[in-house]
Amino acid sequence: MGAVSPGTAALLTFLARTIDARTAVEIGTGAGVSSLALLDGMPDGTLTSIDTEPEHQSAARRVLTDAGIPARRARLIAGAALQVLPKLSDAAYDLVLVDADPLEAVEYVEQSLRLLRPGGLLVISHALSAGRVADAGNEDDDTVIMRETLAAVADSSDLSPVLLPVGDGVLVARRA
Ligand SMILES: C[S@@+](CC[C@H](N)C(=O)[O-])C[C@H]1O[C@@H](n2cnc3c(N)ncnc32)[C@H](O)[C@@H]1O
Repeated sequence: MGAVSPGTAALLTFLARTIDARTAVEIGTGAGVSSLALLDGMPDGTLTSIDTEPEHQSAARRVLTDAGIPARRARLIAGAALQVLPKLSDAAYDLVLVDADPLEAVEYVEQSLRLLRPGGLLVISHALSAGRVADAGNEDDDTVIMRETLAAVADSSDLSPVLLPVGDGVLVARRA
């Protein structure tokens, strides 16, 4: 999986702006495409973004700097998401974007429930995996875990989800 699509980036900006986000967590910095989209939608906000690969974050930092984003608005943390996320504060974030290791997506949702304030948004990119999630014959590990993740979100009484056909699928869920 690469960066989010242009349509998904536009949706991230729209969502962040719509809820007047001030604090967001991004799980999977990559080269900064979604970081920039989120920051575009939260002009007064701060993004905390996690990635295992420092060189990805260096590339992201260059993208953000080139776009005129001050360093203080993007806290880039190099590390494994499941080690970093438990250190972030409870109910302190307006939006969490899940876009890192697909095999850990269920755990990312569990962590997001703790991190999001009431009314905050969970966003999962690549949620339809270019049609593989809907293909009952596809039993790839990534695809099976994404189905389990979507089911966990749908079953949660704390989340109100909608699955959007943007990019290769984006799940947005509001935290009760
Ligand atoms: C699909 S890319 C992210 C793309 C980025 N969100 C964008 O749209 O520009 C996934 C990223 O997750 C990172 N990643 C993979 N496993 C991870 C983990 N366990 N913890 C944190 N980051 C991880 C990879 O290094 C990669 O940069």
